[in-house]
Amino acid sequence: MSGILTLGQFIIEKQSDFPYAKGELSRLLRDIGIAAKIVNREVNKAGLMDILGEVGTINIQGENQKKLDVFANEQFISALTSGGECCIVASEENDEFVPIDAEVSKNARYIVAIDPLDGSSNIDVNVAVGTIFSIYRRKSTDGKATLEDVLQQGTEQVAAGYVIYGSSTMLVYTTGKGVNGFTLDPSIGEFCLSHPNMKIPTDGTIYSINEGNYVHFPDGVKKYLKYCQIEDEQTSRPYTSRYIGSMVADIHRNMIKGGIFIYPTTSSAPNGKLRLVYECNPMAFIIEQAGGRATDGYNRILDQQVTSLHQRSAIFIGSKNMVLKAEELMQQYS
Ligand code: AHG
Ligand code: MN
Ligand code: MN
Ligand code: MN
Repeated sequence: MSGILTLGQFIIEKQSDFPYAKGELSRLLRDIGIAAKIVNREVNKAGLMDILGEVGTINIQGENQKKLDVFANEQFISALTSGGECCIVASEENDEFVPIDAEVSKNARYIVAIDPLDGSSNIDVNVAVGTIFSIYRRKSTDGKATLEDVLQQGTEQVAAGYVIYGSSTMLVYTTGKGVNGFTLDPSIGEFCLSHPNMKIPTDGTIYSINEGNYVHFPDGVKKYLKYCQIEDEQTSRPYTSRYIGSMVADIHRNMIKGGIFIYPTTSSAPNGKLRLVYECNPMAFIIEQAGGRATDGYNRILDQQVTSLHQRSAIFIGSKNMVLKAEELMQQYS
């Protein structure tokens, strides 16, 4: 397979980059890649299996859980449990963190926070969905890992990534030394390096926000939307509005083309809708590593104090100059 660099080969080649180069993080990333392939297989034939629709349960977020939410959650937790490198899994779909059996995880040094299936509202309508993961080293040195090991500030992440199950399936991740994208080649069942050293354009002409919540937006967001919609040839405005409803898909598009994704506070989400630990922090780490910017309209996402597993945050993320412009109006008007 000349010229093809698989995820596994890449991880091994780059292993010396990891501060803890004993191979544990490499194995953890491999375990995540395996679970992503299993989920991809089900996503690709969801219409043919009894895996569409709802389970009939409500998760701690107050959302109706989809069968694929639960399936993906089970796959990632099982891959992380059996891999032996992870001592705790924190998931959007679990009220509390999932401690991994001490026997299996006695030497495990890593904590994984995960949104196993992002964009669940798109599953039944065949629109791109994703997975988001965030990896920390445990801080506690003896006994069982604790909640404090999970509630670490975003700057402490040692790796973060997402999988997008779209027109093709990609895994994009960072370990703090840039961002690399791998496309799944189903004919060989391998993620192959397709987007080395990804960089998000500093400027863009795409804004991504659920304008249905307009009346509840902070004034600074309303002012920014008007800025995007005003005719101004010099700055290629009006911009284009694109909103998929899957954070991973909206942010991945902006990573490739340039753009800004905003989920601000609204009346139904006074602290924002997206979850800091397994959506905002990992996506912020990736976008910053690709040269972009991620804040809550005022402060850097990665600097936010993490106080609870499912806490939410407003997020303005994407091309640096677009986020800076939105922040300028947030600080001026909100
Ligand atoms: P999840 O499916 O993991 O619960 O996440 C859904 C999130 C995110 O993917 C997306 O950007 C946002 O919800 C869409 O929210 P609205 O439907 O309120 O616009
Ligand atoms: Mn959900
Ligand atoms: Mn999500
Ligand atoms: Mn989810």
